[in-house]
Amino acid sequence: MKILHFSDLHIVPAGQRLFGLNPAQQLQQLIDHALQHHGDADLCVITGDLTHKGEVGAYEVLAEKLQQLPMPVQLLVGNHDDRHHFRSYFPDQSVDSHGFVQRIVDTDLYTLVFLDTLSVGSPEGELCAQRLQWLSQAIATSHKPILLFSHHPIMDLQFPSMDWIKLREHEEVMALIKQDNKVAYMFAGHVHRPAAGIWHGVPFATVSGASHQHHLHFTQTGASDSSLEPAGYGVISVLAHSITVHFQLAQNYARFAYQGPPLRLRAKT
Ligand SMILES: [Fe+2]
Repeated sequence: MKILHFSDLHIVPAGQRLFGLNPAQQLQQLIDHALQHHGDADLCVITGDLTHKGEVGAYEVLAEKLQQLPMPVQLLVGNHDDRHHFRSYFPDQSVDSHGFVQRIVDTDLYTLVFLDTLSVGSPEGELCAQRLQWLSQAIATSHKPILLFSHHPIMDLQFPSMDWIKLREHEEVMALIKQDNKVAYMFAGHVHRPAAGIWHGVPFATVSGASHQHHLHFTQTGASDSSLEPAGYGVISVLAHSITVHFQLAQNYARFAYQGPPLRLRAKT
């Protein structure tokens, strides 16, 4: 199974810009690259911050863009989204019994669990008692290893300007994960950077933003500075005994792509 992992699109209504960028155009570069190189992907997951301010007009732009993707798309919400506007614009994206944008997708080898970590009015992530209960049940009832997707990272990344706005209930989630040992990999957005590591024995990865990035600064506290580093996405290859994550930069790809004859090292004679 091949999964495309996009995140942090920060789409704005038509005619507006963000940090001098056109987020819809940024997303288009990812879509173009993904369709050219990974059109065979089985799924595209977009881990939240679909829009910058959650306006209906922004979801309208997003819906039009996503029509180009031939594979199923799983959408999560982030702290920049508006859950109500999202649900009204994407009624096909299922929600749990309390209306949170979280769901379970069963595949041959893995159970995919998608979380809603949006805390209205706060940049921090939240899993309230209802959402924690839902996650507890999702883990307990899965008969397969789990791939866990969320907008907010559950773990610290040694990146102070992002760590203070990770998931607030990280200790509760850690306890759930340790209880069953079924979570095989965790994927998140929010960071606007590719990062990978292991947290309490569980590997994790975050991906670049589709729009702007965050400047990597290990001592800056408070809000992070945005940067105009190239946008990118993740390509997750999932096999029975192997999960590989490739981090692909996709912005202005055509400008840098090598167009000449194949470059190959010659064997020494
Ligand atoms: Fe974001």
